[in-house]
Amino acid sequence: MSKPLVAVIMGSKSDWETMKNAADTLAEFGVPHECRVLSAHRVPKPLAEYVTRAESRGVEVIIAGAGGAAHLAGVAAAHTTLPVLGVPMEGGALKGMDALLATVQMPGGIPVGTLAIGGAGAKNAALLAIAILANSRPEVRVKLKMFRKKQSDTVLAEKLP
Ligand code: RP5
Repeated sequence: MSKPLVAVIMGSKSDWETMKNAADTLAEFGVPHECRVLSAHRVPKPLAEYVTRAESRGVEVIIAGAGGAAHLAGVAAAHTTLPVLGVPMEGGALKGMDALLATVQMPGGIPVGTLAIGGAGAKNAALLAIAILANSRPEVRVKLKMFRKKQSDTVLAEKLP
C-alpha cells in the first residue's frame, strides 16, 4: 500500500478486534493507512516520536483507540496539529464509560474528536477520517456519497415479516 494518509493507533493488541473495524472501513474505501500498537503509558516516548513525525510522513488524520483511563488520543493530540479521532474501548469494570469520559473530556486547547464506545466508534472514526480526506479529494467524496446511498437503499428495501 502507498504512503499512509491515516494512522490507526491503539493502546494494546487487545484493542485490535475493535480497531479492525476502522482498518476494514479504510480498506473498503481504498484509503492508505497503517495500524500500530503504541501505548501512552507503556511506550510514551515511541508514541510521542511516532505522532510528532506523522505530519511530515504525509499522514492527515490519526485515529486513536484505547481503554481504561484512556489517555492515548489526548497525548497523541498534544504532539500534533493533525486531527485526532478518539475511540473508547468497550469492556472492563466500567464497560467503556471510563474510556469514553477520559477520551472526550479534553480540557480546552487540545481537541480530540471522540466517537462512540467500541466497534461502532471505530467504524465511524474511519468514516469521519474519510470525510476529512474527501474535502480535498473529489474521488473520495464520490465514494462516500455512494456508500451513503447504498446504506440508505438497504434500509428502504428492508422487508419485515
Ligand atoms: C489500554 O489498556 C489499552 O488501550 C487497552 O484497551 C487496555 C488494556 O490493555 P491490555 O492490558 O489488554 O494490554 O492501555
